[in-house]
Amino acid sequence: MTVARSGRFSGDRAPSFVALNSSLSLDWRLWREDIEGSVAHARALLGAGILSAAEYEAVENGLAAVGREIESGAFVPTDADEDVHMAVERRLTELIGEAGARLHTGRSRNDQVVTDVRLHLRRVIERQDAALASLQELLVARSADHLETVLPAYTHLQRAQVTSLAQHLLAYFWMFERDRTRLEAARQACLELPLGAGAAVGLDFPLDRTAEAADLGFDRVAENSLDAVASRDFVVDYLAAAAQLGAHVSRLGAEIVLWASGEFGFVRLPDAYAGGSSIMPQKKNPDAAELMRAAGPRLAADLGGLLGVLHGLPLAYNTDLREDKRYLFDAVDCLDQLLPVVHGVLAEIAYDETRMAAACDPSLAATDVADYLVEQGVPFREAHHLTGGLVRRCLERGEDLAQVPLEELRSLSPAFDERYYELHEPAAQLARKRSRGGSAPERVREQLERARAALEARPCC
Ligand code: ARG
Repeated sequence: MTVARSGRFSGDRAPSFVALNSSLSLDWRLWREDIEGSVAHARALLGAGILSAAEYEAVENGLAAVGREIESGAFVPTDADEDVHMAVERRLTELIGEAGARLHTGRSRNDQVVTDVRLHLRRVIERQDAALASLQELLVARSADHLETVLPAYTHLQRAQVTSLAQHLLAYFWMFERDRTRLEAARQACLELPLGAGAAVGLDFPLDRTAEAADLGFDRVAENSLDAVASRDFVVDYLAAAAQLGAHVSRLGAEIVLWASGEFGFVRLPDAYAGGSSIMPQKKNPDAAELMRAAGPRLAADLGGLLGVLHGLPLAYNTDLREDKRYLFDAVDCLDQLLPVVHGVLAEIAYDETRMAAACDPSLAATDVADYLVEQGVPFREAHHLTGGLVRRCLERGEDLAQVPLEELRSLSPAFDERYYELHEPAAQLARKRSRGGSAPERVREQLERARAALEARPCC
């Protein structure tokens, strides 16, 4: 049975339109929040004297019964219901009769849907923030073992200078830290109650919106009814945070793909997160890391999709807005699937410290040589030029920087002395990077402390 079509229409809707118009595939997952919001609304109707105590009780019990039916699979909506709100209300009215038919007083699906989504998204963010926090904990734990594991830092994907694996992993810690800040801002944006805005202009009934807000755990009431039903900033905020997080995970995935290649060989992928080839028996493919990489554009597209829907849309509610859930839930599902995989990959990946160290070729000392000359009083530009000449000389002769005899160095500049030969061990180069935030093990140890403090200062929301 479906709710009879309004008296405004003479015939039924075309089946093709019913199918297109149904948003159940997008919004059915909101049923819990729809019931929660309906209970709070019923309480406000009771407070305003629109529902009697007996009617309120029937609605509350009826909604609980609908919830149980949905949970057990006994109640399944059909496209004719159009959306989650109509489906829940239809079933409620079937169960309890007239009191159910009074529930939609002083409410529109326009303020209802955006209330449901806010309630739902709050929970999503709490869950995903917790997943990010555990990723951060993992990064801290793995970094602590690798303060002295050297590898080249790359710029332009060319070996640049020596850094440590801890420093590299912690870079992602701070990216995720900022992602959590953005997610928290999106969660805060969810805490404004739209319910009570009605279809667009507010209500004829004196419903206590402040009490409704408190009831549902919102911390404030939307100030403007048109804004309340027309805006989706809070979804954009989430999608923007998700897109940025996606870009971070994508870079991490891309790096793992690169590092797992035969050419780099910096990591061995856990078998649990690798794929095979249907034709080449020797292959071990970095599928999980590739899908991490691919999540970046997917999440960026979700953000772009919603911004596209919002662009140029006149106030207030328009059916276009129901598409918000298409983009929102795609991003939610993407991150729900992705974050445990990122955790698994990072927890089980094996680092090949020998390959990393071997990639620290002698030319990586060049900047240290130039900086050493500066310490000897040579202006940096001159030191850079001198060292560049030294590198070229070594390339021509097929020698290493460390092998150049002192007298030859001194013929280039009297600033050279024995200390030149202390610069060529990767560990020595690492130890010299003592600026705050730098790669020297002592600095990274401090950074680890700050990372741990940041984790502690931000319990999961
Ligand atoms: N199902 C719609 C959505 O998801 C809510 C209904 C809005 N109201 C309307 N008259 N179509 O946004």
